Amino acid sequence: MMELRIESTPITEVSADLLVINLFEGATEVGGATGLVNAAIGNLVAQQIEEHDFEGKELDCLAITAPTSLSVKQVLLIGLGKPGNFTAVTARKVAAKSIKKARELRAKKIATVIHGTDLKHLDPIVTSQMLAEGLLLGNYQFNRYKTVDRDKVDKYQIEEVIILVDDPANLTAVQKGIAKGEAIASAILNARDIINEPPSKIKPASIAQAAEEISELSKDMSVTVLDEAKLKQEGYNTLLAVAAGSEEKPYLIHLHYKPANAKRSVAFVGKGVTFDSGGLGIKPWSAMLTMKTDMAGAANVLGIFQALAELEAIGQPIPLEVHGVIATTENMISGKAMRPDDIIETKSGKTIEIIHTDAEGRLILSDALSYVVDQKPDYIVDYATLTGAAIRALGRDYAVYMGNSDELMDLVKKASEQTGELAWPLPLPDIYKKYIESPVADLQNASTSDYAPGAIIAGLFLQEFVDNRPWVHLDIAGPSWQDEDKDPLTAKGATGYGILLGLALLELIQ
Ligand code: BES
Ligand code: ZN
Ligand code: ZN
Repeated sequence: MMELRIESTPITEVSADLLVINLFEGATEVGGATGLVNAAIGNLVAQQIEEHDFEGKELDCLAITAPTSLSVKQVLLIGLGKPGNFTAVTARKVAAKSIKKARELRAKKIATVIHGTDLKHLDPIVTSQMLAEGLLLGNYQFNRYKTVDRDKVDKYQIEEVIILVDDPANLTAVQKGIAKGEAIASAILNARDIINEPPSKIKPASIAQAAEEISELSKDMSVTVLDEAKLKQEGYNTLLAVAAGSEEKPYLIHLHYKPANAKRSVAFVGKGVTFDSGGLGIKPWSAMLTMKTDMAGAANVLGIFQALAELEAIGQPIPLEVHGVIATTENMISGKAMRPDDIIETKSGKTIEIIHTDAEGRLILSDALSYVVDQKPDYIVDYATLTGAAIRALGRDYAVYMGNSDELMDLVKKASEQTGELAWPLPLPDIYKKYIESPVADLQNASTSDYAPGAIIAGLFLQEFVDNRPWVHLDIAGPSWQDEDKDPLTAKGATGYGILLGLALLELIQ
């Protein structure tokens, strides 16, 4: 595991394989090292700007051999873009890019300045937090199943990153920011791991076990797991119906965080389908690929709770009551599987006609939402890889969100802007309720019309189960997974999208 170490060694004395310094676009001096940049670095930078036309554009990189006056082998110059455009989001991205570049350069010991600390509009706690998050998220790889040339994989690992604090007055702030960034990043990395693991490894019982382990991390946390017998006894019939075709037992999991000073409460709900074959309405093979990620919503809930526990442990707790409710099952096929034409009586009492067995997420969430409503939270936020239509509408980079509360919709917008996790709203107009009206039951779980707006009608369906409480639904089918290795903060595969946004939301509410 890559270790982050804070040091107030002068930049000219630090010894490392690689020293990361930065440059704002249009500037001629490196940033993040006020008072420590001596003639050696100043000249070096000036020379490189000249020679390589390095302009400091956002995320531009230039690796150069270090002058003999430094105790490092190489220097990485990274561009921060225009100072006026530099935000916390840029700081995180720059750090992630620098660590990816460091990997390319095979550096094992790295020293870095804290990007953006010189800017008056950013707090050093924030720039340090972003540095830690960026470094750890950018360094993530999922390669535990690669065995060929394993020794090479294991031999090259970044061992440590020395974080250079130039102004001693900032030391406490930096420690605070780095600790917070580490807590949040490690929660996201764990979430990525459980999403990336194959579906034979992560089953509904594994999700329940992970929740139990997380609840152990804090004395203010508890967990309740409803097993099949309990679900039957209490009438969680939609979760049971989806699980009927699988050998694996379903669970409804309730994580509860209640610090002493909490005034308001937020509930996060996660779709935890550990594999979605489509059920009897089976998916073609290519659409079934990546359906191990259909529990990304559940992984987000676990990630948020891990972060809550870790933030409390480092003395930076979030003073809110938080519920985390996960419905977890597989969607498989057998002689016992739920059929199209079946009618299911939900926990809420409403009945649902099954049109399509592949629209299983909204089914299990309907029961999870009924459970949540009984907890009487002030706000409900659900995460679900719910529809292919959401991906077709906004692509892989944006989540779509919808809800019944302008206030909460606004908070999600702010949280998205603050974290850089892209999200765009969709409406929930009554006129489209016609697509989920059933001739035989209260609702139907899908539409037979080619013109039904898929992501929206899934949202309208969920809305039927929130009992008019302030609620937002985040359809994360797009951004929870990346097919390409293009973003500095993520690798190909699971992204953990939504955890940063959820934590930012809690900070806005508290
Ligand atoms: N898990 C899928 C949605 C999904 C698709 C997530 C692609 C990630 C990537 C969901 O359960 C599903 O199958 N939805 C159907 C609904 C339809 C049958 C009404 C869909 O979107 O096609
Ligand atoms: Zn499905
Ligand atoms: Zn699904």
